[in-house]
Amino acid sequence: MKTAERLSKIPPYLFMELRKKINKAKTEGVDVISLAIGDPVEATPDSIIQELCLAAHDPVNHRYPTDEEKGMLAFRREIARWYKERYDVTLNPDNEILGLIGSKEGCHHFVLARVNPGDVVLMTDPGYPAYRSSILMGEGVPYNVPILPQNNYLPVLEDIPTDVARKATAMFLNYPNNPTGACATVSFLSALVEFAQKFDVAVCYDNPYSEIVFSGQPRLSFLMAPGAKEVGIELNSLSKPFNMCGWRLGMACGSAELIAGISKVKENTDSGIFNAIQHAGIRALSSEACFIEQMLDIYGRRRERVLQTLKKIGIDFNPPRGTFYLWVPVPKGMTSLAFTNRLFDKAAVVVASGTAYGQYGEGFVRISLTVPDERLEEAMQRIEKEFAQ
Ligand SMILES: Cc1ncc(COP(=O)(O)O)c(C=O)c1O
Repeated sequence: MKTAERLSKIPPYLFMELRKKINKAKTEGVDVISLAIGDPVEATPDSIIQELCLAAHDPVNHRYPTDEEKGMLAFRREIARWYKERYDVTLNPDNEILGLIGSKEGCHHFVLARVNPGDVVLMTDPGYPAYRSSILMGEGVPYNVPILPQNNYLPVLEDIPTDVARKATAMFLNYPNNPTGACATVSFLSALVEFAQKFDVAVCYDNPYSEIVFSGQPRLSFLMAPGAKEVGIELNSLSKPFNMCGWRLGMACGSAELIAGISKVKENTDSGIFNAIQHAGIRALSSEACFIEQMLDIYGRRRERVLQTLKKIGIDFNPPRGTFYLWVPVPKGMTSLAFTNRLFDKAAVVVASGTAYGQYGEGFVRISLTVPDERLEEAMQRIEKEFAQ
């Protein structure tokens, strides 16, 4: 049976390929340590699990989700409260907030709601691979905007050719940035709004790491920039701040028109989020903010441990202050892939090659801090041993 042509344009999903490689090595008896995937290993806080159990026992929640395409009003209200408290952003739960099955789902449905076949969609390079897939599945045309260390990994909006900007109908961005860890600035967000207004580009500001920042880095939402709500949406998620990747819960906030468009897509595809999970989400947002600080202490410690090893093997750099990833320059004279392969073959440590995120990822690898301390320690010792020779 032949599948649709659009699927053939989509590159294999990075982590599926990595998982295959890891599983193969494991079946051969190799003790592989993966630092490749950003998926917290510590449990979701207990109170959130308890809330899910309670809600799951209530037959009311066994029916189709309430307000199916939008998410429960109580969940949307809690998101509005969270955005006010964390970012001083005012949102109307009636038409400026939408519950999502994670931020990744939002990327895909944003494209379906905004992009016509053949439209140019801007995305950063390096960038989160799901943007490209979403654009291609929506039959848009991805255009890579480089983000480079010399510009603090922010796109230089003035460098986007005017004819490309005119043709573009949407743009994906994500700060704190996966994979580089870079953070946006208030002035950049304002410039982004201006750019979007000038060229009528709808911004999809994917912000699932908004809470994961270090060393006094401020937490920013795109919606803090004046005018942002008129030109785009922000996606956010409970996956990373509350260790809920498997629960599949997130939100889109911002432009009422885009929210209505995405609602329409969802109404006709997924019918919304299990109510019990939304109740658990309310619990997370309303009473587990302190959990984020506990996790940041853990990631901060791990960050220092990895930086110590990197320094020992001659990689000394000043890492950006966001996300639980480190975007690490590879040793001089090596490519990303050569370094990745050497770590795998000689130390059984898996990191993500920078090139998996785009051509400007060459010269870097991404290390994730979402592994147990003792496994990270073991990985660092193996790396030190391999490169000390
Ligand atoms: C930039 C970015 N966006 C979206 C996601 C997906 O988040 P969610 O679990 O909310 O779908 C990830 C996950 O790694 C990510 O790195």
